[in-house]
Amino acid sequence: MVDTITFDTGQRLFLLRTDRSFYAMRVLADGELVHVGFGALVATTLALNNLDHYEEPNYVWEKQGRRWEYPAFGDVTTHDVAIRAVFPQPAAALQQDEAAHVPIRDLRLRYVSHEISTSAEPGLAAQHGRNPATPKPVLCITLRDIGYNFLVRLNYRVTPELDIFERWVEVENAAEMPVTIEGLAFATVHLPTDRYELRRAAGSWGREFVCVTQELHQGVTPLRQLGLNTGHNANPSFLIHPKGRAGPDQGITYFGMMAFSGNWSLRFDVLPTDAVRIHGGYEDSNFSMTLKPSQRHRTPAFIFGVAEDGTNGASRRLHAWMRRHVLPQSAHGPLRPVLYNGWESVYFDISMDKQLQLARTAAAIGVELFCVDDGWFSGRRNDRAGLGDWTVDRDIFPQGLAPLIAEVRRLGMRFGLWVEPEMVNPDSHLYRAHPDWVLHFPGRPRIQTRHQLILDFGRSDVVDAIYTMLDSLLAENDITFFKWDMNRYVTEAGSAAGREIWYQHVQGLYDVMDRLLKKYPRLDIQSCSGGGGRVDAGILSRCLQAWTSDNTDAMDRVYIQDGFSLFYPPPAMESWVTHERNHQTGRVIELDVRFDVAMRGVLGIGTNIDAIPAEDLENYRRKIAFYKKIRHIVQGGELHRLAEGQNGGASVWQSVSPDRRESVYSVVVVQAMQGHHLPFYRLRNLIPDATYRLTDEWDHELGHFSGAQLMTLGMPGDQRHGHLTCSVRSRTVLLAVV
Ligand code: GLA
Repeated sequence: MVDTITFDTGQRLFLLRTDRSFYAMRVLADGELVHVGFGALVATTLALNNLDHYEEPNYVWEKQGRRWEYPAFGDVTTHDVAIRAVFPQPAAALQQDEAAHVPIRDLRLRYVSHEISTSAEPGLAAQHGRNPATPKPVLCITLRDIGYNFLVRLNYRVTPELDIFERWVEVENAAEMPVTIEGLAFATVHLPTDRYELRRAAGSWGREFVCVTQELHQGVTPLRQLGLNTGHNANPSFLIHPKGRAGPDQGITYFGMMAFSGNWSLRFDVLPTDAVRIHGGYEDSNFSMTLKPSQRHRTPAFIFGVAEDGTNGASRRLHAWMRRHVLPQSAHGPLRPVLYNGWESVYFDISMDKQLQLARTAAAIGVELFCVDDGWFSGRRNDRAGLGDWTVDRDIFPQGLAPLIAEVRRLGMRFGLWVEPEMVNPDSHLYRAHPDWVLHFPGRPRIQTRHQLILDFGRSDVVDAIYTMLDSLLAENDITFFKWDMNRYVTEAGSAAGREIWYQHVQGLYDVMDRLLKKYPRLDIQSCSGGGGRVDAGILSRCLQAWTSDNTDAMDRVYIQDGFSLFYPPPAMESWVTHERNHQTGRVIELDVRFDVAMRGVLGIGTNIDAIPAEDLENYRRKIAFYKKIRHIVQGGELHRLAEGQNGGASVWQSVSPDRRESVYSVVVVQAMQGHHLPFYRLRNLIPDATYRLTDEWDHELGHFSGAQLMTLGMPGDQRHGHLTCSVRSRTVLLAVV
């Protein structure tokens, strides 16, 4: 067993090792900490020597090529930096020949010491419901400014078996005057000099995670979010690989993501030498944070690594890491339940009778979790009123939620409820009582989106009040699932927290969730933000699944889910079957396709199931039963993305159980003309000499094939369906060793 973190005192070299990759940096004679290398291992041993020969070339003037591990503003660099700090000019430092009262925007960090511990954690880490993992070593390198007693601790945690590095930074003001921080990255990651292509989620509401690939050219390519949530238009995750040299299954692919649900920034800086630096941290265009003497701040984590087996290799490492180390463990067991959500059935037209009726039908077709969406609380008849008043509307539920929950429980299902705790409608009791509780600039107009304003989570009294309301709701009712929504971006970010609100909002949000999850261990939370606007490794350490998009059109969803699955695993991806004529797009899509697409993640039903013919309901029942038969593989297996819809043809996913004895093959044709034949997609990671029996949802046998054949000749066509053409648009097949 090789040490994952070593320090060579002679060369002052830090070497971090995972099973298949390395990351190295060293301390120079002048105390600067510089990056040495990051990449895939080519052998089990790695000895690095004569490192002076690998200094990046200087250009323009001295040191511009130097790869500072964590570049600071004010030091020699003329490039983008990881940290910007401002010190007041100390009276004692006023020399006769120096300007007076010029704030010192000059930070020069030099190595002081380092230690290896097993207890350190990133900021905003969830403390509950986690996998009891064996403690992992953390390297902490302390840097200090050359003049001020201002410390920056760079932390590195290694998960060797998954090739994952996590980094975060702690800043400490050990000086006697306040320090203002105007930019703070969780990490700067250096890539070897090369030409790169970046793959990242792009999109908008209803089109989340539709990924784009772009070539990086000299200069800075910024990705960022300004809206206060994680964002629909971009996601704090990426894959990056040398141009033209990585495919789905081969080639070096670097990857990364950030565990933070607020305004984030990722800046890809390509230097004139083609050296690349990635700075990931708080979005800083309107950010600052003041540390009083002896105050510290610890950032959330930047997660990254490198895969030598292409984009799918990168995705699989991230999925495994999220499954094992990020997603919360539910008290209800490892499998996510089949959910019913009535939003698209009734919208705001909620009544006790209708909910009871839906619950009975849902239970009859096999639903396990019945969730009441928006419209159940005081005064909420439409989206103009009620947000902020988290008490049950007595006009709809005269005896409260108890009779409905009792019936849902009697039917054998759990009960869930929609909430949007960070928001308030001006037409609400909460707002009338506390109009000052929202983000706003005094005397200036308060712009409403969807008739709502955002509560100021920079105030602890506001955070506590919201916690108390949700606490009462959970104390009084047997609710074990919240769909936690956030339906607007910020416009006027005036807060008690000043320009630190970007961080404090997230801290307040996580705090409310953490307190509730601790007090109610049977509670599970789903993250939603107008669909997939809040999906990241921070929220997903509290919420076991995310609502991927409000767009439930199965054909659109193929692209959305293909993109989502580049970074996040199927058990975090909630997907519903909704109406034949889709409510968002008006497209008519057959039931088979709607199910085949929704069964790729956590299955939900959003159809008005009381208004469909009995034979259709029977189809729902059978398909849900089939999903239950395959979900331990879909949710718990390893995902191989065999083809992406974006490339035309079909989107093809294959999940493989940990023992490789079971697999689920899912194909959805997105584009096929008559005469267009899809390939026999070659399967992955089966047991070569085992025989697999292939069955469909009817338990019809499609044949017996050896693992080796399925992995070489590929997945066969079948006599019942014929080979997939434009007339058969999708299929889900279970493979099990006989
Ligand atoms: C958001 C969610 C939807 C639904 C509505 C309710 O748009 O994404 O699923 O819950 O809010 O208002």
